[in-house]
Amino acid sequence: MVHIKSKREIDCMRKSGRLVAKVLQEIALLAKPGVTLLELDKVAEQKTLELGATPAFKGYLGYRHSLCTSVNEQVVHGIPNDRKLVDGDIVGLDFGLVFDGFYGDSAVTVPIGNVSALALKLAKATRDSLYAAIEVAREGNSVKDVALAIESVISPFGFGIVREFVGHGIGTKLHEEPQIPNYAAGASNFKLRSGMTIAIEPMINAGRCEVKVLADKWTAVTRDGSLSAHFEHSLAITNGAPEVLTEWDSPRFAMFYGE
Ligand code: MF3
Ligand code: CO
Repeated sequence: MVHIKSKREIDCMRKSGRLVAKVLQEIALLAKPGVTLLELDKVAEQKTLELGATPAFKGYLGYRHSLCTSVNEQVVHGIPNDRKLVDGDIVGLDFGLVFDGFYGDSAVTVPIGNVSALALKLAKATRDSLYAAIEVAREGNSVKDVALAIESVISPFGFGIVREFVGHGIGTKLHEEPQIPNYAAGASNFKLRSGMTIAIEPMINAGRCEVKVLADKWTAVTRDGSLSAHFEHSLAITNGAPEVLTEWDSPRFAMFYGE
């Protein structure tokens, strides 16, 4: 069952989405050489509470932090620790909160100092695949159309599209139906409709698509050790172009990657 949200419910999703964007943007600007992952997690939690919201990930399936921090070959669900970011790293920051009963969820990959040409190409391609997917996330189009849009941006680069983790519906729960895979072969013909709210989150590896989960039971890394990037927005399907609920003051994460 996929819930079609009323105007009032979409208003609530808009509020929580804006708060997610506010916190994630602040955290992303703090991510610099010498800053630890735990420091970013602490600030994310503090800001969330200050805004009158609750971190969505803390306590979810036993996860103990407010932020996921995935560095370099880490794909998603990296656990914040006292590792310091260094020049040349890329770090995926994945953050969600709940406000007034409604969830928002978003992720960005941030370049730390000067990163390699490959890292930049990977991050930009992943960002572009998210926005290509958003463009086709419209009433009447299917979940497969969304996946196809991601594939069409990524395939020319020969990068690997992660299959084990997918996007999802979002609302009064962090994860709702439908699943939104990032590769067409895994995606259904389920039709999107105005009033649905979904999170699209491509995870793309510079090398092969395979991942493994470390002994901590959370951190997913590329099997071949190649770099990985992750971007995510929560959005509302409308009669026309979707509304990106977690959009930043600087759309398309342009402050890090240009237009
Ligand atoms: N944004 C991710 C997702 O949509 C992270 C949630 S995992 C958590 O699945 F356990 F940390 F909450
Ligand atoms: Co998500």
